This record gives sequence, structure tokens and C-alpha cells, in this order.
Amino acid sequence: MNYRHGYHAGNFADVVKHIALVAIIQHLKKKDTPFAVIDTHAGRGFYDLSGEHAGKTGEAQNGIARLQCLAGAMPDALSAYLDLAKGNSYPGSPLIAARLLRPQDRLTAVEKHPQEFAVLKDTLDLYREATAENLDGYARLPKLLPPAARRGVVVIDPPFEATDEFETLARTVTAAIRKFATGIYLVWYPIKSQPAADAFTSEVLAGGARKALTIDVKIAVLDGKLGHAGLLVLNPPHGFDAAMAAAAAVIAPPMDAAITIRWLAGE
Ligand SMILES: C[S@@+](CC[C@H](N)C(=O)[O-])C[C@H]1O[C@@H](n2cnc3c(N)ncnc32)[C@H](O)[C@@H]1O
Repeated sequence: MNYRHGYHAGNFADVVKHIALVAIIQHLKKKDTPFAVIDTHAGRGFYDLSGEHAGKTGEAQNGIARLQCLAGAMPDALSAYLDLAKGNSYPGSPLIAARLLRPQDRLTAVEKHPQEFAVLKDTLDLYREATAENLDGYARLPKLLPPAARRGVVVIDPPFEATDEFETLARTVTAAIRKFATGIYLVWYPIKSQPAADAFTSEVLAGGARKALTIDVKIAVLDGKLGHAGLLVLNPPHGFDAAMAAAAAVIAPPMDAAITIRWLAGE
């Protein structure tokens, strides 16, 4: 387990993933009934973009740093995301969720790496609605489903260090939708090979996902860095595609990114 998200925090892929998470939570908050956020690969929750890790790769320079000067009226999800990601204090997915939850909602954030978990726990200790767990997120997820609230979002954002991560991910998502078919799933993956990414989304669809879209994000990068990533969103809430298209129209030009939203099933 060598992966440290601090090297990538606030990059092009984080930006789109985190705006999507905000859009989903904004939708869930339209009803007063409680909901759950389950984050299986939570990371440390908070990243200092002026710190050593972020400084070494400079990845945030092609992501959040290009958006912090945006001003004026903006789509809701983008505007709420930019409010959370000001300056050099960059929030990871569990902190974004924790900051947006209401007293009736719950966040379970799972992180396997002991050092990342220690920071996550300190970060989330400030939020009554949040629990941090130092466990394997893949193994833990089935035990958390369905959540007591019976509505919510599962975020699965693995490090892709293992060569069989796509297979593990597809198996985990398929098992999860059997236990919590109505849940919203936000799944991140790198695109180093388009056929491998397509095989993964096809496997999830074959496993029973009825409503699914992908968001493809591509930027031009040098030095062999990752410049292409995808999000698979299962059971995207009503209006999510339009909300993301509106955000994409604003962020794509400054990030010099191509962002494509594509329905795979159940549009
Ligand atoms: C891509 S990062 C997560 C970033 C975070 N979701 C965010 O958006 O801010 C992946 C994290 O998963 C952790 N991790 C790796 N394998 C894991 C596992 N099996 N279960 C839980 N966490 C794991 C890594 O230590 C790393 O912090």
C-alpha cells in the first residue's frame, strides 16, 4: 500500500469526482428523510496543497487551481464545491460529505492505511454524523448495506495499485447492488486502456445495474502522468446528468479538459 492521495489531491479527476459527489448529496438533501454516505476508500479527508506531496507532483495546478479564480453565477454543485475547496486546504471525499450532511444523515468513511486513517479520524471527529473505520473497504461494504436509512450514496474510489483492481471493483459493485439496489453508486477508475475500462463498465451492467452513466474526463498531460479517468454512476438521481453537464461547461475550458457524459443504461 504505497498509494498516497496527497500526490493527486485536487487534480482534474478529483475535481470532477468531487463535484459529482456534491451534486448527488444536494439531490439527496431535497427530501428531509435521512440518507447515508458510505465511502469505502476514504483517504485522509484533508489535503494541504502547499504541502510536500502536492508540491512534488503539482497535479492540483491542472485541476482545482484553475478554478479558484472563477467568479459570478455558477451551477449549484460547482458553486458549493468551490466554497468547500478554497485556498490550499483541499477537502477529500469524506470531508466534503461531512461538511454537507445534516444532523439526520450519516457518513461511514473506511480507510485501510493506518497513517491516512489517523488523519481521517482526527478530521471527522469534529462531525457527529461521521464515523471513520480503519478497515478494508471492499470487505466492509457488504456489511454496511443496505444502510438503515435505505437511501444514500456509496463512493468507491480505489487506488488502482493492484493489477486486478477492475475485477475486484466489478465484483464488489455487483454484490453491493444486490444488497442495496436503489442506492446511488459513484465509482472512480483511471483510463489507461479504453477496452479495460469498457470491459469493467460492461461487467457491472451485466451484473444487474439498470440505470448507469459514465463521465469521462481527459486532459493533456506530460511526463506519463494520468490524464484520463472515468466515473461510473449507478442510479444517478433525476437531473444529475444536467447538473454535471452545466458544471462541465464551466470547468472544461479553464482545465483544458474534455468531459463527456454518456448514458449506458436506463436514461
Ligand atoms: C484514491 S484514494 C481516496 C481519495 C478519496 N476518496 C477522496 O476523493 O478524497 C484511495 C485510498 O484508498 C486507500 N485504500 C487502499 N486500499 C484500500 C482498501 N482495501 N480499503 C480501504 N481503503 C483502501 C488508500 O490508502 C487511499 O487513501
